[in-house]
Amino acid sequence: MSLQSHFVRLLFVFLTLFLGSTSVLAQSAPNHPWMNPKLSPDERAAMVVKEMTIDEKITLLHGTGMEGLSPLSPLIVHSNGGAGYVPGIPRLGIPPIQMSDAAYGVRMSGDNGRYSTALTSDVGAAASWDIEAGFEYGALIGRELRAQGYNMSLGGGVNLTREPRNGRTFEYVGEDPVLAGKMVASVIRGTQSQHVLGDIKHYALNDQESGRNAVNIIIDKRAARESDLLAFEIGIEESNVAAVMCSYNRFDGAYACENKYLLTDVLKKDWKYPGFVLSDWGGAHSTAKASAAGMDHEEPGWIFYGDALKKEVESGKVPQSELDDHVRRILRSMFAVGAVDNPPQRSVVDVAGGFEVARTIEEQSAVLLKNANGQLPLDASKIRSIAVIGPHADVGMISGGGSAQVDPPGGNAIMPPGKGQTRWLEPVWFPTSPLKTIRAKVPAANVEFNSGADPAAAAALAKAADVAIVYAYQWESEGMDLDSLSLPEHQDDLIAKVAAANPHTVVVVESGGPVTMPWAGQVSGILEAWYGGSCGAEAVANILFGEVNPSAKLPLTFPKSDADIPHPRLVKPPKATVDADAEGWKRIAAGLPAFQVTYDEGVKVGYKWYDAEKKPVLFPFGFGLSYTTYSYSNLKVTPGKRPQVTFTVANTGNRAGAEIAEVYASLPAAASQPPKRLVGFSKVRLNGGESKEVTVEVDPKYLSMFNVEQNGWQLLPGDYTFMVGGSSQDLPLKESVSLK
Ligand code: BGC
Repeated sequence: MSLQSHFVRLLFVFLTLFLGSTSVLAQSAPNHPWMNPKLSPDERAAMVVKEMTIDEKITLLHGTGMEGLSPLSPLIVHSNGGAGYVPGIPRLGIPPIQMSDAAYGVRMSGDNGRYSTALTSDVGAAASWDIEAGFEYGALIGRELRAQGYNMSLGGGVNLTREPRNGRTFEYVGEDPVLAGKMVASVIRGTQSQHVLGDIKHYALNDQESGRNAVNIIIDKRAARESDLLAFEIGIEESNVAAVMCSYNRFDGAYACENKYLLTDVLKKDWKYPGFVLSDWGGAHSTAKASAAGMDHEEPGWIFYGDALKKEVESGKVPQSELDDHVRRILRSMFAVGAVDNPPQRSVVDVAGGFEVARTIEEQSAVLLKNANGQLPLDASKIRSIAVIGPHADVGMISGGGSAQVDPPGGNAIMPPGKGQTRWLEPVWFPTSPLKTIRAKVPAANVEFNSGADPAAAAALAKAADVAIVYAYQWESEGMDLDSLSLPEHQDDLIAKVAAANPHTVVVVESGGPVTMPWAGQVSGILEAWYGGSCGAEAVANILFGEVNPSAKLPLTFPKSDADIPHPRLVKPPKATVDADAEGWKRIAAGLPAFQVTYDEGVKVGYKWYDAEKKPVLFPFGFGLSYTTYSYSNLKVTPGKRPQVTFTVANTGNRAGAEIAEVYASLPAAASQPPKRLVGFSKVRLNGGESKEVTVEVDPKYLSMFNVEQNGWQLLPGDYTFMVGGSSQDLPLKESVSLK
């Protein structure tokens, strides 16, 4: 690509931008026939494509640069400050695309001098198993994106928790394809309800950060279709997502962003996906190959899809129809979500409203894992003293890092004033103070803090108190994986010492995924709070003191130890800190994968692995306690095209609560599947003593196996056992039916 010719093309775009419009926030031109909202998005997009010059088309197919990753285009001055900016075409009424990362809130608001709400991490939203909460989560992000001037979100992470030490586990939605697919779809629907283009990522099999730009993933196609790809399939079909972000890694030898199997055969043909594929930032590797494979848009720059693409089109190497298809898909998505008809309206973000949503979603996301002898809820009227213990529990709660990072108001809670910016690969603590919120719950009690740096001193404080609450953390970020699931900073030792000193010890875990808990038997309460967001401390305190009855359940398994996970040692590139060592880069230059990871566990991700291998776990998938109790009865399975599973759930206690009822199935032996898979769920709200009949309709795909030879889902005739209950390991109801 020559920079000079790029600038000639840019000059053209520049002139159109300014001659065609007084503002780069493109104006809709109602007199264009495609501005008729009664026409379908496809019709509207096709009409626009017909009018476009080749330069206008190319402009839509790439970003305008990012410091550190690609040259910067002069047009970047019109960027809204997010990760991506694509100029619009004012003469045709097509607005620019202003993209922002927005996994659990809008990113880079600090740099841009704006405010964003941090929600619970995505894995926390998944723990709510609540489709409506997921929608609300996405809608809040959509509203704040619009208010800040964006019209595209780069959230929507749905890579399965195949490798629980993956540093982005907090950004994803757990280990099960049905739960993950449905939850990510609900978040995307919420975002797109605000006329903001949604995104689902990282397609596909980008299940670890170590060596993500170099790694070649080996997994058999059937297993991939029944696990990681199924999560995308459900996420896409249930959300009509505008964009799919192809990932950095390779699959079967080819980079995901030029992988014909992933992008064309599966995504665009099998799933009939009508939207567009954009590369992860720097994830594009070719022009003609990527274009033929189905990548529609390059980010963040124009190395392959700028002049290089124009030349390939002019020379006939890339067919005109292929170019038009890329453009049509982008326009089609813009029309479909209303990004053309309803451009963003800048406004002041509703901070108070954001706090309310952040708190209530975290209250539905924190999972009560242990409650021995009714330790919780704490009775504020009886408690005289509480020891609040743990790193930074006086000032804040930890958040997930990387491109998902939301900036805390006022800066990082543990930084001196003025140094509070978020920095890559540095943990950021949100100013939501456990100590202050606990004090507010029991104003008459003596509430003291100890950081735990000296476990003996912390234990002494705990001994003198009625109750000890330890806030433990495990930080995760894009760009790294965890060495182990153990808590860092000798926190295991700290908790063991505190628990030995006080039998009323409650541990609040702030983590992005599973952690090991050698002390689980010694403490009386455990609450998994994930990364709780802007109001994490309030939400946690509301659960600890019983103002909220916990209802969340684990969207991923907590194993007993690293030794029990499918790959006891994470496969890293030759040098842990870089994507590849010198040898690796030579291999990449020669077109060979720098290193490979083989997912020989196949479809056995998460609980499917522990079930099949008969490995006991610390806390199973789907597990979570409540302050009330539930019972299950009257199972009836009605076979048919979409089997109906009907049962009764009763709240056998006297507190109102919400029970997540889970439906699993085991397939006929000929399907050679793990013992069971989740096929549906329902969150049932019940007053004390109340019971309800629930029917879960099962999509036949969730009961099928993927037949690679026939390239389709196949329901094997035979006996299927349906199991219903409150966790993957507590399924009191069981019925077998024959399906054909
Ligand atoms: C991440 C993406 C992100 C992009 C833009 C990449 O490093 O993998 O998830 O959307 O950067 O910030």
